[in-house]
Amino acid sequence: MNLYQFFRPLIFQLDPETAHDLAIKFLKFCPRAATIFCHQTDYENLRTKLWGLDFTSPIGLAAGFDKNAEVAKTLEKFGFGFLECGTVTLLPQPGNPKPRLFRLVEDCAVINRLGFNNLGAEVFEKNLPQISVPLGINIGKNKDTQDVLSDYLPLLEKFYQKASYITVNISSPNTKNLRDLQNEDHLDLFLSEIIKKKNELKCLVPILLKVAPDLDESQQEKIAATVIKNKIDGMIISNTTIDRALNLRSHNATQTGGLSGVPLFHKSNEVLRNFYKFTEGKIPLIGVGGVSSAADVYEKIKCGASLVQLYTTFIYEGFGLVERIKKELSEMVKKDGLKNISEAVGTK
Ligand SMILES: Cc1cc2nc3c(=O)[nH]c(=O)nc-3n(C[C@H](O)[C@H](O)[C@H](O)COP(=O)(O)O)c2cc1C
Repeated sequence: MNLYQFFRPLIFQLDPETAHDLAIKFLKFCPRAATIFCHQTDYENLRTKLWGLDFTSPIGLAAGFDKNAEVAKTLEKFGFGFLECGTVTLLPQPGNPKPRLFRLVEDCAVINRLGFNNLGAEVFEKNLPQISVPLGINIGKNKDTQDVLSDYLPLLEKFYQKASYITVNISSPNTKNLRDLQNEDHLDLFLSEIIKKKNELKCLVPILLKVAPDLDESQQEKIAATVIKNKIDGMIISNTTIDRALNLRSHNATQTGGLSGVPLFHKSNEVLRNFYKFTEGKIPLIGVGGVSSAADVYEKIKCGASLVQLYTTFIYEGFGLVERIKKELSEMVKKDGLKNISEAVGTK
């Protein structure tokens, strides 16, 4: 049992959002205490190079944990190969009314309807640290913005020189109509404007599109074609799901919002595999959704992911998890006779 698991019953006495806010404060103000038991090890066979960036391992932290880029400096010490901060919106906004974050303990899952609560782009920019692993910045729109480009384009301009990659998030279920941007006609126009801006800025930073898992195959095929057409550099698959037909047991299963964690694993893998097929392996994919072990990371990579992210499992397992996963994954790769994890991408 690690320290986090020892304290977990106490942490779980707290309302989930209070627990999260306290965790951020702890990581921010007591970084040495938070990382005292962290012993980072790098494994040669997990090193990954993508978009000209070096990743010491393909395992990263997904967006939503560090929405205001407050604790990236501490988080990198937990052994992540990369971090993604945000979603940041142009203006600060409070998000949806509380309560808006729910644990589904029996399912190792979470439902959130936070609604992009964050301190806005100005504060985010001031908070941004220098870190040694690649840092993704995830951008979204304010709740009341009608002309979506009037948010995304200035955000791209503000952050492209500060990020290793930019994630354009159009897949949160908690901002009304946001997911409509995934529809073919909207998406083509939207992405062409994003890329036009990218070219105007002479921006060399990769732009990634983060999509929902709640897309049927024909939608997935159209999105893939639009992404390729507009020369988007990569995709993140997937955000949380609004699907509840996932054999959930917890009493919180009926809460409105996006579901993440273990029940999302197979659903997001299926979508990932489809996008790998529809993009013909031509653009790098980041797989995310329900990862809780080295075997899960390996599975996502075999489904077509070049990198993998996780979030919800931390709420249940704590930060020792990353080093454990890295060690086990490295052994799995060796056992399969591969020189490097990247040889496994899309082999399933
Ligand atoms: C509490 C919470 C807040 C999140 N906030 C964001 C967000 O702001 N932007 C985003 O793109 N994804 C957000 N996500 C989604 C995660 O980045 C990830 O795509 C999803 O949780 C699936 O991964 P997991 O099962 O490992 O958690 C959030 C997830 C959770 C649990």
